Amino acid sequence: MNDCDIGVYGLAVMGQNLALNIADHDFNVAVYNRTTLRIKTFMQEEVADRSVKAAYELPEFVNLLRTPRIILVMVKAGFAIDAVIDDLKPYLQAGDIIIDGGNSHYRDSERRAELLSEHEIHYIGMGVSGGEDGARLGPSLMPGGPLEAYQRVEAILKAIAAKVGNEPCVAYLGPHGVGHYVKMVHNGIEYAIMQAIAEVYDLMRRDAGMTPQQISEVFRRWNKGPLSSFLIEITGHLLTHTAADTGEPLIDLILDRAQQKGTGKWTIQDALDIAVPVPTISAAVDARVISSLKEAREKASSILQGPLAGFEMEQDKLVKVLEQALLATMICSYAQGFDVLRVASQGYDYHLDLSQVARIWRAGCIIRADMLNMISDAFAMHNNLPNLMLAPHFAQSLQDIQSGWREVVQLAVQNGIPVPAISSALAYYDSYRSARLPANLIQAQRDYFGAHTYERIDREGQFHTLWEQ
Ligand code: 6PG
Repeated sequence: MNDCDIGVYGLAVMGQNLALNIADHDFNVAVYNRTTLRIKTFMQEEVADRSVKAAYELPEFVNLLRTPRIILVMVKAGFAIDAVIDDLKPYLQAGDIIIDGGNSHYRDSERRAELLSEHEIHYIGMGVSGGEDGARLGPSLMPGGPLEAYQRVEAILKAIAAKVGNEPCVAYLGPHGVGHYVKMVHNGIEYAIMQAIAEVYDLMRRDAGMTPQQISEVFRRWNKGPLSSFLIEITGHLLTHTAADTGEPLIDLILDRAQQKGTGKWTIQDALDIAVPVPTISAAVDARVISSLKEAREKASSILQGPLAGFEMEQDKLVKVLEQALLATMICSYAQGFDVLRVASQGYDYHLDLSQVARIWRAGCIIRADMLNMISDAFAMHNNLPNLMLAPHFAQSLQDIQSGWREVVQLAVQNGIPVPAISSALAYYDSYRSARLPANLIQAQRDYFGAHTYERIDREGQFHTLWEQ
């Protein structure tokens, strides 16, 4: 009876694909879902001769598992996870392990880990990236929790994870909610890069009037160079898709209202709490929010005017500078995300190995990119590198490509095309490299209206001036 190595609770797309992936690696899998029909359909249509056993009641599911048990919960993040844990708890015993593979908030993971530890049940909060294909063929996995629990599940996770050569894209990241913390930041970076890609697409489509097919060819070319990454690759593909019913490029027919489930917003919220600037991630979240104001934008478009005269750039030149701007923005997006991880690691006692985080993002996940090899090397040299932009390779790249980056921002501003990710990244770069910023004036103003005091560059101490005298 109890010979299953792992149970998968939740058979939505991710749960189904992970269950099949695990079974393909010669582990015995038990599956359970709240609605029976889904279990039956999965067993009939997907499982074939794989070693997967279905349970239709919770006690039956738990009894199928070898003890101490390992249960991977793949349900919608939020209350559903708490409900599943409450349901499971009466049937579990000391030493059993629950892995939460949803996009949970890291604080929820910490709370759940503590709650379960009172019953000596281990909780692993695990970020899973790669969508449906990743889950089926090899995701990037970001687990955090008790080390002894990780060691018990390591063989399964290593088997199912994406590989770079023979190296699996999974590693023990540390205690508490660190797995979900790292996944949250992964998603913040994901938002920033997606927005930057959308901006260069906009400049090619709206400003230069290029067709989706022509833009697709540009992305395909870029994917062979330093921008090489999953998001560039899929953009090259999706731009060639035509609508089956009208024959038009599908991209032109998609409503320009971006949705979000909240992980980008969480990244910004936490970054603000720990005082790490993430302007490009913020710009990307704001851009999604502004996109959702479709009706308001439509009304405003006939009231608020843009620049009178446009500015033209020859197409080959445009494509060249856009590549530079996108590359620079990608570097800054990773820099901001890794800075959040660095500071959080110190503040929350995560002891994160940033080089390792970069390594497990090199395949399987949505932000996988060739650039992550260099990022991993940079943090391997110096885990406390204050900012990725300072690593010699990236400092040199930014220097080499900054003229194109600046030209793109100029072009966009002159033509009234918004580039919030690209321009915020440039402001981040320019701010970070400024030895002196105008914060002296902010301090003077604060002291003027609120006697908040200021420091001076020429002597020690706190000063207050009676400004009106
Ligand atoms: C991943 C993704 C995934 C996320 C989607 C949608 O790493 O596989 O990050 O976890 O759910 O990208 O996120 P939004 O709905 O917030 O865009």
